[in-house]
Amino acid sequence: MEILDLRHFSSVDLRPLLEDEIGVWSRLLSWDYGGSADMILRYVDAKILPGYAAIDRGRIFGYAFFVYEGSKGVIGDLFVANGGRLPDPHDVESRLLTHVIETLQQSPGIRRVEAQLLMHEAGVVTQPFMQQGFSRHARLFMLLTLEKASKPAPPSHADIEIRQWSEQDYQPAAAVITTAYRGHVDSEINDQYRTLSGSLRFLNNIVRFPGCGTFDPESSFAAVHKRTRTLVGLILCSRVRQDVGHVTQVCVLPEYRSHGIGESLLAATTANLRQRKFSLLSLTVTEANARAVELYLRLGFDTKRVFDAFVWEG
Ligand SMILES: CC(C)(COP(=O)(O)OP(=O)(O)OC[C@H]1O[C@@H](n2cnc3c(N)ncnc32)[C@H](O)[C@@H]1OP(=O)(O)O)[C@@H](O)C(=O)NCCC(=O)NCCS
Repeated sequence: MEILDLRHFSSVDLRPLLEDEIGVWSRLLSWDYGGSADMILRYVDAKILPGYAAIDRGRIFGYAFFVYEGSKGVIGDLFVANGGRLPDPHDVESRLLTHVIETLQQSPGIRRVEAQLLMHEAGVVTQPFMQQGFSRHARLFMLLTLEKASKPAPPSHADIEIRQWSEQDYQPAAAVITTAYRGHVDSEINDQYRTLSGSLRFLNNIVRFPGCGTFDPESSFAAVHKRTRTLVGLILCSRVRQDVGHVTQVCVLPEYRSHGIGESLLAATTANLRQRKFSLLSLTVTEANARAVELYLRLGFDTKRVFDAFVWEG
C-alpha cells in the first residue's frame, strides 16, 4: 500500500471510491453525497485539491483532502473502502490523516487546523490528532422523523414574530451569529463564529455554495422583534437529500433566550418540511452544549451517531 499526493490522479481514478462513499453517506446519515462528490471530482481534475490517496495494486481505495482558508487548514474528508483483500481501514485512515496533519502543520502561515469527521464514530480516528496536540470535542448527529414530530409551534415571546428567511437577513444574521456564539464552545471548534467577517464567510458557504447540501430558503426562518424589526434569532436549513432537511444553523441572541424562540424556529422548519412531504430532519450539536441538546431531545430528535471535532492552534 502506498500513500501518494491526490494531485497525481484524475476523476476517472477517484470516481469508483466516491461511488462507495456516496453509498455509505446515504446509509449512515441519510444524506445524498452526490453533489459534494461531483464538486470533489471537478477539483481533482483541476489539480487544485490538496490531499492524499491510498493505493493498493494500482487502485485508489482511500483518500483524504483539505482546504486552506487564510491561516487555517480544514480537513474536508477522509474515506477508506473496506473489505476483500484490502489493508486494515483504520490503519490506512491513520496513515492518511498523519500525512494530512503533517502537511498542514508544516505549511507556512498555517496557525490553525480544524476537522469534523462526521462519518467516523467518536474515538476511532483520534490517535493521529492527539499525537499532534489537537483538542477533541464530541459532537452528536441527531435525526427527527418528521411524521412523528406533530407538536404545534409553542407561543413565542410576545414581542417576537417568526417569518420566512429573506435575502436581506444576510448581513444582520452574521451579527446575530457572532453575538450568539461569543464565549460558546462552538466558536472554539469553528473560529469563523468569532468575528463578523468570519460569520459572513460561514453564511456564504451555507447559503451560496453546495458544500453542505443545498440551502433551502423555504424552510429557513428569522425571529424578528415586531416593533424594531431587528433580527434576534434565525434557523437555516439545507436539503441534503430529496426528502431530508439539515439544520445548518439555529441561534437566538442571549437576551432573548428561554422564551421558546428557539423552539418556535425549529417548529417553523419542521412544519414547513412536513407540509412539503420531507421525511427526516437532521442536525449536529456539540455534546457539551447541554441546553441545545436538551431542546432537541425534547422535540423528538434521536442521537444517531457521536463523532469528533478536532482543533489545533499552532
Ligand atoms: C440553543 C438556542 C438556539 C435555544 O434558543 P432558546 O430561544 O433559548 O430556546 P427555547 O427558549 O425554545 O428553549 C430553551 C429553554 O427555554 C425554556 N423555555 C421555553 N419557553 C420558556 C418560557 N416562556 N419561559 C421560560 N423558559 C422557557 C425551555 O424549556 C428550554 O429550557 P431547557 O433547555 O432548560 O428545557 C439558544 O440557546 C442559542 O442560541 N444558543 C447559542 C447557539 C447554539 O448553541 N445553537 C445551537 C447549535 S447546535
